[in-house]
Amino acid sequence: MSQTVDPSLDKRLGEAAERLEAGLAAALSGSSFLLAGAPERLLAAMRHGTLDGGKRLRPFLVEETAALFGADPAFAAPVALALECIHCYSLIHDDLPAMDDDDLRRGRPTVHRAYDEATAILAGDALLTLAFGLVAETQAPIEPAAQLTLIRLLSREAGAAGMAGGQALDLAAETATLDEAEIARMQAMKTGALIAFAAEAGAVVGGASPAERKTLRRYGEIVGLAFQLADDLLDETADAATLGKAAGKDAARGKKTLPALRGIDWTRAELDRLVAEAEALLDPFGTRGETLRQTARFVAWRAK
Ligand code: IPE
Ligand code: IPE
Ligand code: MG
Ligand code: MG
Ligand code: MG
Repeated sequence: MSQTVDPSLDKRLGEAAERLEAGLAAALSGSSFLLAGAPERLLAAMRHGTLDGGKRLRPFLVEETAALFGADPAFAAPVALALECIHCYSLIHDDLPAMDDDDLRRGRPTVHRAYDEATAILAGDALLTLAFGLVAETQAPIEPAAQLTLIRLLSREAGAAGMAGGQALDLAAETATLDEAEIARMQAMKTGALIAFAAEAGAVVGGASPAERKTLRRYGEIVGLAFQLADDLLDETADAATLGKAAGKDAARGKKTLPALRGIDWTRAELDRLVAEAEALLDPFGTRGETLRQTARFVAWRAK
């Protein structure tokens, strides 16, 4: 991890990543009600795209937002794991030849490279479907009404009004001109939606008041914007060995990004502004909000 990561956050993220890895491995073991009888090769492709890698930032945010209200990570686990499954599906499809056409992800061959294109499409489909099963199956003591809220929210944020819609805008933009507001909207959908969901879902799991839930959703939206800005900046400034995925590809493919439109200095200043905004939103939570403050800084400053 970079030197801008607070050591205590580094430790917390590391521990969460280990716990989430074990949860994902269990969810994808193939012995559960949801997956028993699945073809072994398809399961292997799902595991390839999901296990052993990734920052696990989205599930971490679910857990940490729920923890603001004293909720045990186990309460947040089903929705955290579901969200990571959807994120991993989005990466598998994002890398397909029909989308960004990438060969490397998390330092390994992309799923369509390691298997084949049809299997990668189906692995994504199956991970998306699995996610809803995981939320439905939760053993955590969550009210049924909260569970339905989570399923409904997840459907919106992952779908045409959220991540998938943003991906459609991202691809259409390769051959179009976008202004700053249009790029921001695309980012808010393709990346912001799942990250905003993470914070809002944690609030729902934790039993937040409507006002707290709204504040945390806004926090998630801002962290989501910062996340994609940092990803776009890293595409320009880092190398493939550091990133574990191709670098310098956005410009080559005609991707519309804010660093490309406004420049690197503007982007760094904007990241600082977003961190300050995210931190201010957490004021009402006092010292309990410290991990989420550190998380906003980590997301924004990993590109420095
Ligand atoms: C990459 O997400 C895709 C974007 C939304 C920019 P991450 O950077 O969270 O990918 P992993 O999960 O850590 O590999
Ligand atoms: C991906 O954005 C956003 C998703 C919804 C997957 P990018 O295309 O920039 O992500 P990377 O750089 O390939 O990880
Ligand atoms: Mg993409
Ligand atoms: Mg991509
Ligand atoms: Mg990128």
